[in-house]
Amino acid sequence: MSRKLSVMITGASGEIGHGLIARLTTADPDRPVITLDLNPLSADLAPKVRHQFGGSILDRELLARIQAEYEVDQVYHLAALLSTRSEFSPELAHKVNVEGTLNLLEFAQRQGESHGRAVVFFYPSSIAAYGLPTAAAKAAAGKVKEDEFNQPTTMYGANKLYCEHLGRYYGRHYKQLAADPHAGKVDFRCIRFPGLISAVTVPSGGTSDYAPEMTHAAAAGEPYECFVRPDTRIPFMAMPDAVDAIQRLVHAPREKLTRVVYNIGAFAPTAAEVERIVRAAFPRAEIATKVDEKRQGIVDSWPADVDDTAARRDWGHAPAYALDTAFGEYLIPTIRNRYAR
Ligand code: SER
Repeated sequence: MSRKLSVMITGASGEIGHGLIARLTTADPDRPVITLDLNPLSADLAPKVRHQFGGSILDRELLARIQAEYEVDQVYHLAALLSTRSEFSPELAHKVNVEGTLNLLEFAQRQGESHGRAVVFFYPSSIAAYGLPTAAAKAAAGKVKEDEFNQPTTMYGANKLYCEHLGRYYGRHYKQLAADPHAGKVDFRCIRFPGLISAVTVPSGGTSDYAPEMTHAAAAGEPYECFVRPDTRIPFMAMPDAVDAIQRLVHAPREKLTRVVYNIGAFAPTAAEVERIVRAAFPRAEIATKVDEKRQGIVDSWPADVDDTAARRDWGHAPAYALDTAFGEYLIPTIRNRYAR
């Protein structure tokens, strides 16, 4: 039992969780971090957290137990089924991605009511929340703004877009007809991430996975078949910048935030550009293209780039890595090390 205000991370063993736990526990070693995930944390991360709860975000009894044992004033709700996996099991995706998020928002609301402070609730949305209808529309749109093209074609994208609305509801309008004010206990903050590329973990079940998969396969000396056309373009970001952006948004003064949901960008290469950089670093890489028309269709519905003016203005989004430095200074050296072991 800890009454010290704790941080709770769901989906902690996933790609973002991996980087986030390391950052949070280094920045503030005295702040307890608790995690909820179906899978255990890796051996290097496990000692950094106060308690790992093994289980599902759909298990309300487990959430009630955590509620009784911990006071939480920051939630990072990272657990989700990604976009490709969600298309194979849309109903399960809806359960995990939407009902799971509702459970966590309820958890945060109860926490806020019990200790009286607003609970900062960080929610990772995605460029999957956009749906551009045609290639011509995608080319003409360029950098899309948050409120444009909100017609996702995937279950995952629909789930993310709806949960952004749910978060706004809990943050601003919760039980608006009740006699006592209830809103304001959840301080919901959301980033729509581009495709993320980590040097230390490989994603699973996403549709932007071709860039990280290509890079990791080349370093591991394995052949890779890229499932999108070479001219396919979407925004990407190196994982350290994603974690950095989360921290900037979470710690921003509330009055500076003019939006609930923010785009963030860094670089937006085509698949061919990623391949060229990977081949330059790993000249023996075996990379072929075998287009999966269906997954291609999903990536084609995502924007070529995003307008992140609001994030830069309101909370100082400033990615450290551009395309060349993301690969040259972060991904390639770190990945080389990983596979050299
Ligand atoms: N990058 C994720 C995916 O491809 C979307 O958030 O599913």
